[in-house]
Amino acid sequence: MPVILSGGSGTRLWPMSRPEKPKQLLALTADETMLQLTAARAHGDAFAAPVVVANAAHADEVEAQLAGIGAAPSALILEPAGRNTAPAIALAALVAKGKSPLLVMPSDHVIADREAFHAAIHAALPLVEQGWLVTFGITPDAPETGYGYIKVGEEIAAGVHRVARFVEKPKRDVAEAMVAAGDHAWNGGIFLFCAEAYLAALEAHRPDILAAVKRSLEAARHDGARIYPDAGAFAASPSDSIDYAVMEKAERVAVVPVAMGWSDVGSWDALHAISAGDAGGNVVAGEVIMLDTRNCLVRSDGAKVAMVGVEDLIVVASGNDILILPRGRSQDVKLLLEAMKG
Ligand code: GDD
Ligand code: MG
Repeated sequence: MPVILSGGSGTRLWPMSRPEKPKQLLALTADETMLQLTAARAHGDAFAAPVVVANAAHADEVEAQLAGIGAAPSALILEPAGRNTAPAIALAALVAKGKSPLLVMPSDHVIADREAFHAAIHAALPLVEQGWLVTFGITPDAPETGYGYIKVGEEIAAGVHRVARFVEKPKRDVAEAMVAAGDHAWNGGIFLFCAEAYLAALEAHRPDILAAVKRSLEAARHDGARIYPDAGAFAASPSDSIDYAVMEKAERVAVVPVAMGWSDVGSWDALHAISAGDAGGNVVAGEVIMLDTRNCLVRSDGAKVAMVGVEDLIVVASGNDILILPRGRSQDVKLLLEAMKG
């Protein structure tokens, strides 16, 4: 059963991504939004209807987007406020309890090769049924510090390896050493496990999170497929990610290394890198006029953008806001937002 996590804020994609309409609800790489692409990736005969965990403020938009591609969720769990992924996944596991393995997917990634993804899921299923927590490993191409790293251990089933070590968001020098060692994969942020196995690991390592999430569901309000966990009880849960709360600590953790054209589209540079540009290397969306312009990413949702004689720029116009920076600097959008907050 697919579990789609749609609670993030995607701040590095400002000014398109905003609290009221974050990254996963935008169409960045295709006509479909990131959420729609995620749902479509695990849809059809082999998959049950998804359980979606989202911010309550986005309920109508999430529902409309999923209806738009014929992927209505069996449950739409609406968080009053984000408590990161460990509690969000606990909500889904408690709601789905006893059913098929959970395929937990972030709603804001690109996977170009859907067949490779499905084959990796297939390889993992026998171990999942034995209670393993499985994640998918991506070959690293740079010492990124925003990802989890997995030391790939011995092969325990065809294509499936024991996780020798899981290091979430390492410091730069540690990341460099792991990439240089050549035996580490990035954690793709996609997980496959039985609800019981996840809940047991959470009980073992973060019983405080599990207890708060259980209480929030006991007092939940139901409205059709919508489930509103009790706000006070859910707010009492500590905020933590599945990576720190469970994956770094749990025992029976496995990884399926897979080349599937994965990107988390974490920045405007990442979007430029994965998009097919025009003959001049430009990636363009919206009303944009260019003369003698090369290797730029330009997007506008309204304003007309005209450019002459420039190279390697990122220009994003949304509403009254315009972002301009050289390619290679898009991680610094975070600093800009901090500066704007004052
Ligand atoms: N419902 C819900 N509630 N969803 C959430 C919440 C929340 O409170 N917080 C985050 N999410 C969603 C995000 O929208 C995203 O789709 C997914 O969960 C992962 O959260 P991120 O905040 O994007 O995690 P990250 O990118 O820092 O790190 C994770 O992903 C990396 C790969 O992109 C980790 O799993 C890393 O180990 C991994 O390498
Ligand atoms: Mg992410």
